[in-house]
Amino acid sequence: MKDLFNLSGKSIVITGGAGVLCGAMAEDLAAAGAKVIIADYDEFRANELAKKITASGGFALPVKINVLDKKMVQEAFSCIVDSVGQVDVLINGAGGNKKEATATPDMPFFDIPAEAIRFVFDLNFIGTLLPSQVFGKHMAEKGAGIILNVSSMNAFRPLTRIAAYSAAKAAISNFTQWLAVHMCQNYSTKIRVNAIAPGFFLTEQNRFLLTDEKTGKLTARGQTIIAHTPMGRFGEAQELCGTVRWLLSDASKFVTGIVVPVDGGFSAFSGV
Ligand SMILES: NC(=O)c1ccc[n+]([C@@H]2O[C@H](COP(=O)([O-])OP(=O)(O)OC[C@H]3O[C@@H](n4cnc5c(N)ncnc54)[C@H](O)[C@@H]3O)[C@@H](O)[C@H]2O)c1
Repeated sequence: MKDLFNLSGKSIVITGGAGVLCGAMAEDLAAAGAKVIIADYDEFRANELAKKITASGGFALPVKINVLDKKMVQEAFSCIVDSVGQVDVLINGAGGNKKEATATPDMPFFDIPAEAIRFVFDLNFIGTLLPSQVFGKHMAEKGAGIILNVSSMNAFRPLTRIAAYSAAKAAISNFTQWLAVHMCQNYSTKIRVNAIAPGFFLTEQNRFLLTDEKTGKLTARGQTIIAHTPMGRFGEAQELCGTVRWLLSDASKFVTGIVVPVDGGFSAFSGV
């Protein structure tokens, strides 16, 4: 059983690795003995997390990346390969929503600027696609590898107000299936591509929607989410880690092209 979930010595690149959810994954995977590469736009936070992981005995390498710039993704890839030799796993974690792309009474859907929509769509979808091209090519050349994408509940059924984020996450789920098939059919059956779909975790990207800035109390939207989550609470970032370990290890050797909800039952509940 221990061997089945063994990640020791694997080199795992995590885009958005300095963020709340992927930072928790980085710490957990380093604790499991993996060499974790924290690839983030925010160099300062990537460095701080790498220091924390190294101080607790793990291996972590901070690397600056912009997942929207293929040249920079390629440069990050070269720097990573120079440092750790090769890459076993890519987690495409960089992503999120933006206030300006969210429909509100002050900014009705009809008036949301195309730039805001494009920003959110690109950050999530193009920001998953470009690293998959660069790191996926490396996996195709060595005939093995794992890509794990980060989708969302919005991919199954869109949430109100966030059209661009919903569409982008739906595109990520679709692309997960597409790439899984493409890699198996054209390169190697030892390349697997899956996704997790986190439910609701209180982080910086959604705090403005789920809690009241002044009182800190749940907004009506936050309350509705909790009411539709059978477990009756938001998730804790660490609660993603078991599913991630499963999808990155031989425990899921025959699993590719799936999107796994980690959501306290949200996606199963009809609301009645
Ligand atoms: N928080 C939730 O409830 C929730 C639910 C479902 C899915 N997700 C998804 O999980 C992932 C992580 O979300 P989070 O809540 O931890 O967000 P977060 O904002 O804490 O982390 C996102 C990280 O991505 C980095 N980043 C942003 N733009 C980048 C770019 N162009 N290049 C490289 N890095 C960039 C940021 O610096 C940040 O460290 C996202 O894809 C998000 O959409 C979150």
